Order: sequence, then C-alpha cells, then structure tokens
Amino acid sequence: MTKKTPAPVLVRHVIWFGWKLVILLSFALCFFALLRLHFSSENSASSSPNSFSPARARSQISRDNFHGPPKIAFLFLARLNLPLDFLWGSFFENADVANFSIYIHSAPGFVFDESTSRSHFLYNRQLTDSIQVVWGESSMIEAERLLLATALEDPANQRFVLLSDSCVPLYNFSYIYRYLMGSSRSFVDSFLDVKDGRYHPKMSPLIPKGKWRKGSQWISLVRSHAEVIVDDEIVLPVFKNFCKRRPPLDTSKGKLNIVKTSKATQLYPR
Ligand SMILES: *[C@@H]1O[C@H](CO)[C@@H](O)[C@H](O)[C@H]1NC(C)=O
Ligand SMILES: *[C@@H]1O[C@H](CO)[C@@H](O)[C@H](O)[C@H]1NC(C)=O
Repeated sequence: MTKKTPAPVLVRHVIWFGWKLVILLSFALCFFALLRLHFSSENSASSSPNSFSPARARSQISRDNFHGPPKIAFLFLARLNLPLDFLWGSFFENADVANFSIYIHSAPGFVFDESTSRSHFLYNRQLTDSIQVVWGESSMIEAERLLLATALEDPANQRFVLLSDSCVPLYNFSYIYRYLMGSSRSFVDSFLDVKDGRYHPKMSPLIPKGKWRKGSQWISLVRSHAEVIVDDEIVLPVFKNFCKRRPPLDTSKGKLNIVKTSKATQLYPR
C-alpha cells in the first residue's frame, strides 16, 4: 500500500512540467510575434526612402499656403546638357519669373552653367542627388520621381510638366500657362498596344494584365497626382523587378530571337 503513494506525486509532477512548458512556449511565441512586428515595420519604412519625411512634411503644408501666382514646374530629364536650351531660353524670356520653376535631372555631377548652357534660366537648376539612368529601365522612373519629389517641396508648384532633352515648346508661355492652369486635370498619354510584349505575367496581381497600358512619359500632372507617384510603394517595386531591357538580338540564333517575341504577343487575346 505504501508503495502506491508516489504515483499521484509523479502525476502532479508531469502536470506541473506540462504547464511550465505551455507558459514557456507562449512566452516564446509572444517574443517571436514582437520581433516580427518590429522587423516588418522596419522593412516597410526602409523600402520607401523617398516617401517618408517629404510626404509628412507635405501633408503639413496647406495646399494653398504659398504667396504669389501658382507655378508650373518644368522638369527636364536630360542625358547631359539640353541641346535646345536656346529655344527654352527665349520661351522663358517671355514668361513671368514668378510663374514657373525649373528642375533638371542630368548625369550625376553634370553642372548647368555658362560653359554648358546658353540660357541663364538653366544655371544651377540640376538636382544634386541625381542617379545614373539606364534608358528604358526603372531607373528612369526613379529619376522622374526625384524630379517630382524635389518640385513638390515648393508649395507654389501646382502643375508638373515632365520633359525630355529633345522636347520643344510649341506655344508661348502665357498660352501654355493659361491652358494648364485653366484645367484641374493631368494630361497623360495612355493606350492599349496589342503588339507590346513587355508585360510580365509575374507582375500580376499587383499590376493586372487588364490594366497594362503604354504611353509617353512626357506628361503634365496636377499636384495630387504628382504626390501619388512620389508616395507609391506598390507599382515601382514591381517595375524594378520586371522592367528590364530586352537582351540585344543574338545574330547566331537567327529566327530563334523572333520566336520569343511572338510568344509574348500571344499573351493578348485577339
Ligand atoms: C501667345 O500665343 C497665343 C496663341 O498662339 C497668342 O494669341 C498670343 O498673342 C501670344 N502671346 C504673346 C505674349 O506672345
Ligand atoms: C502669371 O500668373 C498670373 C497669375 O496667375 C497671370 O495673371 C499671368 O498672366 C501669368 N503670366 C504669364 C506670362 O503667363
């Protein structure tokens, strides 16, 4: 009989050990969850280097908190200098200096001054934090985003016009000023190019195939749309992953080069 007494003690020990294990496990889970929360918030903050403080700073500026007339921001995306600077010079000559601002994204380190430009309007208007741009890749979008972000810092800038180094003004300043300010819309080129094979199926679902459009990047935006582009954290990362220039044609492959392209166009229903 006396030999049976240790049994309940043993059971109690097992139960107590089980409880300890459960408590320990839940502590470990809580700690793990905390760690995950910490790191995921840190990641989402670091993945948007362009949008953290400017966005907050901008939201603190009242939309109409500026003196003087609203400005058009002319945003030039240049390879180096602006070959048509003399044309732009006479264009800006007939403008009111209070009505516009100029920003230029050029090769890093390139300076617009007397030795590189024929128009004083362009002197020292280049961004100081410009990046190396590969034509046709996502770095081009990043350069445009830098231009928009810098121009957004001036609350007087109310229209944002992206221009290439080969764009020319077709109308005088006052006509363009009245035209853009007279409309509350952005002007964007967008069409469905059925022969285009640049859509990558892996872009889905963030960029659905049905929403894929082609268009020139030389656009005019109102302030709220410029903000959408600068604050975007969804579309640009997808472009960074999948927007790559096609490798150059390999002449030794002959027709094999073409097979790839025709497969891509088959993505579109006829
Ligand atoms: C600007 O162009 C418009 C339309 O072409 C014209 O009517 C107007 O007189 C011009 N303004 C100036 C200041 O040249
Ligand atoms: C400059 O802006 C003012 C106010 O918006 C406008 O009345 C004037 O016509 C503009 N000047 C030019 C040259 O467009």
